[in-house]
Amino acid sequence: MHQGTWAKDKTMQDTQQHSKNGFSHSRLKISVGKMVELATEMGMENPLFRCHEQAAKSTTIINGREYINFSTYDYLDINAHEDITKAVTEAAKRYGTSAGASRLVGGERPPHRVLEKAIADFYDVEDCIAYVSGHATNVSTLGFLFGKRDAIFHDGLAHNSLLQGAKLSGAQRFSYTHNDCDALEKMLEEKRESCKHAVIVTEGLFSMDGNIPDLPRIIELKKRYDCMLLVDEAHSLGILGPTGRGVREYFNIDPQDVDMWMSTLSKTLCGCGGFIAGSKELVEFLKYGSPGFVYSVGIPPVIAQACSTALEILKKEPWRVEKIQKISQYFLSYAKSKGLDTGAAQGYAVIPVIIGNSMVTGFLSQLLFKRGIYVMPISFPAVKEGTARLRFFISAAHTEEQVRTTLDAVCEELPNAIEIVKEYQKSHPTVFIDQ
Ligand SMILES: Cc1ncc(COP(=O)(O)O)c(C=O)c1O
Repeated sequence: MHQGTWAKDKTMQDTQQHSKNGFSHSRLKISVGKMVELATEMGMENPLFRCHEQAAKSTTIINGREYINFSTYDYLDINAHEDITKAVTEAAKRYGTSAGASRLVGGERPPHRVLEKAIADFYDVEDCIAYVSGHATNVSTLGFLFGKRDAIFHDGLAHNSLLQGAKLSGAQRFSYTHNDCDALEKMLEEKRESCKHAVIVTEGLFSMDGNIPDLPRIIELKKRYDCMLLVDEAHSLGILGPTGRGVREYFNIDPQDVDMWMSTLSKTLCGCGGFIAGSKELVEFLKYGSPGFVYSVGIPPVIAQACSTALEILKKEPWRVEKIQKISQYFLSYAKSKGLDTGAAQGYAVIPVIIGNSMVTGFLSQLLFKRGIYVMPISFPAVKEGTARLRFFISAAHTEEQVRTTLDAVCEELPNAIEIVKEYQKSHPTVFIDQ
């Protein structure tokens, strides 16, 4: 069995050598470190930080070999589009690659407002603010807008950035069972009255499970209980609705019913950063106060240019949206026909194949890699223990043949991955391997 050295080189040494006050002594690092140590001991190669030698699209190249790639956010196959390359080259020549300073003090470049206006227009709301990071958008917005006397009601599977923002705010935090509007309603009934402002936080398409919230019901609750509503469209912008206008188009709801349309710029829009789209008043308030905007450099003008060009392509070419929806649905139905567990996935861009045991999932990913298929294993703490999975990000450019090749390989290699773990367990009966 191959003996990888990655953990020995990195995490184990870190754990052993750092002082008692070192970062390696944080609880999370130790538990992840232990998992890494065990995986290495069992012969697993490190699947992380692999270097790709080209823009990673529906296929990628690693160490000179081509792989079918299920690990990119480039859902609509727009990254490296020639229109974007041309536009950013011109923008770089004129504006350079850095915004130079916070936009509040250092000023803006035309691509900043062009992007924000285009997004506001796309969402049919008054205005938009673009931050330099998607994660920081959520942290800073929630952290700034809400305080001790307020409450944040969030979905149990909300993204880390939303949870971090909620923590930073100091507001009371209430996590309701994932996608369970009855649970949310009960919580609002019990807790809403005791706090001043309240916000409900959900995602348009959940990043680990690929399912969609009941947004019309959440809107009804937000109105009844006088709350604001933030919807994170990181994975639904460009994916849901006939023209990719996201979860509001999917349900045909009035965009004004959501106070904060949030999304990252790093996925469908092929750049980096995040935004909040909503009322003029809200955007102005954030622009003058939200720390992640005020005290952080502006998004590089070239990236703003890349994102608005990507948005133009999305608007001009709705066939990309149709294509990703079609191939995602095909992926889901083929996986189901093979008896694979796709959890609550609804067949839109993100589809997990749930394996359960993290070691089996890690080895399965490794065996697939050997067969020219690149898909990442996801395990605790990113998902609940016992629900480790291969997370497939689908691209509009994936073909039905690639999907069949991949899922057939999953079915063929799964028993082999299980066998590796069983064999190890036999010779190491005292070692605990999660079920
Ligand atoms: C739902 C969700 N929100 C926010 C983010 C953070 O975005 P970024 O990676 O662009 O910082 C992510 C990242 O994957 C995400 O999945």
